[in-house]
Amino acid sequence: MSKIISILNCDQNYGIGKRNGLLFRLPADMAFFKASTLGHVVAMGENTLLSFPKQKPLKDRVNIVLSQDETHNYEDVVNVHSFDEFLKQIRANCADNDVFIIGGASIYRQMLPYVDEVWLNKVSADGEAEVFFVNMDEREDFELVEKKEPVMDNGYQTQVHIYRKIR
Ligand SMILES: NC(=O)c1ccc[n+]([C@@H]2O[C@H](COP(=O)([O-])OP(=O)(O)OC[C@H]3O[C@@H](n4cnc5c(N)ncnc54)[C@H](OP(=O)(O)O)[C@@H]3O)[C@@H](O)[C@H]2O)c1
Repeated sequence: MSKIISILNCDQNYGIGKRNGLLFRLPADMAFFKASTLGHVVAMGENTLLSFPKQKPLKDRVNIVLSQDETHNYEDVVNVHSFDEFLKQIRANCADNDVFIIGGASIYRQMLPYVDEVWLNKVSADGEAEVFFVNMDEREDFELVEKKEPVMDNGYQTQVHIYRKIR
């Protein structure tokens, strides 16, 4: 059965970004992200699309992008302009494919009630973040179901934690 999954990395304080960019350069994490999402659907807020190289959507994936402004419509993207429409598109696409929520901070938070799983790659370092995710270990609606092997990634120790919604 297909799922809605938030995928992200965070620092030791659950920080996820600063200056509309990422905290660390993590090639192994990028490879994990690519392998996980290729061929599937990715859903994001407008700032996350604008943070990509040349502000282009991700190749070989359906890209759903939420912006409040009706005049902001991007090429090769499913453009939506309200959170209701965003959820509708996610649910429609989820019927036969996994949907990955790929940021940013505001979207991860708003989507928490609707995701089945959170794949959180925790980096053992302080990235001096300006935007934050939630502390998943304090949430009573999710359980930690798997920890992947720790990996050294560009000098940082990282470990993917999988949290599943308790139904
Ligand atoms: N660590 C990670 O794995 C990871 C992954 C992705 C992103 N990030 C980081 O997250 C940061 C960006 O986060 P962010 O929160 O600023 O940006 P974001 O979630 O990508 O985009 C925010 C924009 O989405 C639109 N939006 C959000 N909620 C909406 C709603 N309910 N209705 C209509 N439009 C809505 C708004 O567009 P309008 O302005 O048009 O209203 C808003 O400005 C960056 O630092 C980025 O690097 C980190």
